Amino acid sequence: SEIRDFIKKLPKAELHIHIEGSLEPELMFKLSKKNAIEIPFKSVEEIRLAYKFNNLQSFLDIYYAGAAVLITEEDFYDLTWAYLERCKENNVLHTEVFYDPQTHTNRGIDFDIVINGIHRALVDGKNKLGISSKLIMCFLRHLDEADAFTTLEQASSHLDKIVAVGLDSSEIGHPPSKFERVFEKAQSMGLLTVAHAGEEGPPAYIWEALDLLKVSRIDHGVRALEDEALVTKLITEKIPLTICPLSNIKLCVFKKMSEHNYRKLLKKGLVVTINSDDPAYFGGYINQNYIETAEALSLSKEELALSAKNSFIASFISDEQKKIYC
Ligand code: ADE
Ligand code: ZN
Repeated sequence: SEIRDFIKKLPKAELHIHIEGSLEPELMFKLSKKNAIEIPFKSVEEIRLAYKFNNLQSFLDIYYAGAAVLITEEDFYDLTWAYLERCKENNVLHTEVFYDPQTHTNRGIDFDIVINGIHRALVDGKNKLGISSKLIMCFLRHLDEADAFTTLEQASSHLDKIVAVGLDSSEIGHPPSKFERVFEKAQSMGLLTVAHAGEEGPPAYIWEALDLLKVSRIDHGVRALEDEALVTKLITEKIPLTICPLSNIKLCVFKKMSEHNYRKLLKKGLVVTINSDDPAYFGGYINQNYIETAEALSLSKEELALSAKNSFIASFISDEQKKIYC
């Protein structure tokens, strides 16, 4: 259709993608055999059939189990390279990639293996595909503060490869305040900050992310609409939200796409962006997210173009670079 073609041609930046969430069943199956890591599935089809979630936690359990097949630097390279090829197909010119070191270090994989594999693919992505990128290291919020501090310490010899720290995993019961001191330390090391907040958790968690963690962007943030003062702050301070429509449907944050508040947020003047979150698990890469959102909410071409423009404005590229893209 015309709107699909428009979306496919639109130059986009992606700002909310977990590299472990781009692990397609085919690669998971292949790596499980190569590395002799057992997964509870007999075939690629069986893996896909298992992707039915009721909430964030039911997804995370499967996502962490799947990530266990990643062992060598080459595995992390291949995972990242496969995602960059999808970026090319989706006309993503710039991507800011999350990764979760603790998912790997806590099962005995060296911190350096993970970051070196991902980083090498990102460098090749720039040189061979022309896709620019930044890497964001996320702390798993269900783990404790000390574990996050250890992870930050491990990152200290790789600061040239990381632009920011983030916060992900199980939101409810693990407020941003739990990581105030870790984020303060990360900022003193020259890193920017972002955090998942207001995906399943309340607006109070978005306030904490802003006030305590000093974030440049809120990841998800769809529950901000419940708090009028918060919406005003997000608009006046131009704090971007990285929204993941297909993720929100698959994890039952909204019952169906026609009930998603994306258009409402956009119309209020928030700097909202469309992203894929964990595309291998949620049914599509960034174009699929744009398409399904556009169709369900009747987004106009102007609204789609604004969403794409927002993605560059909200990115961590330099102002000179932004002028080129916008
Ligand atoms: N890790 C991967 N995807 C996530 C999400 N949508 N929310 C929290 N943690 C995640
Ligand atoms: Zn996410």
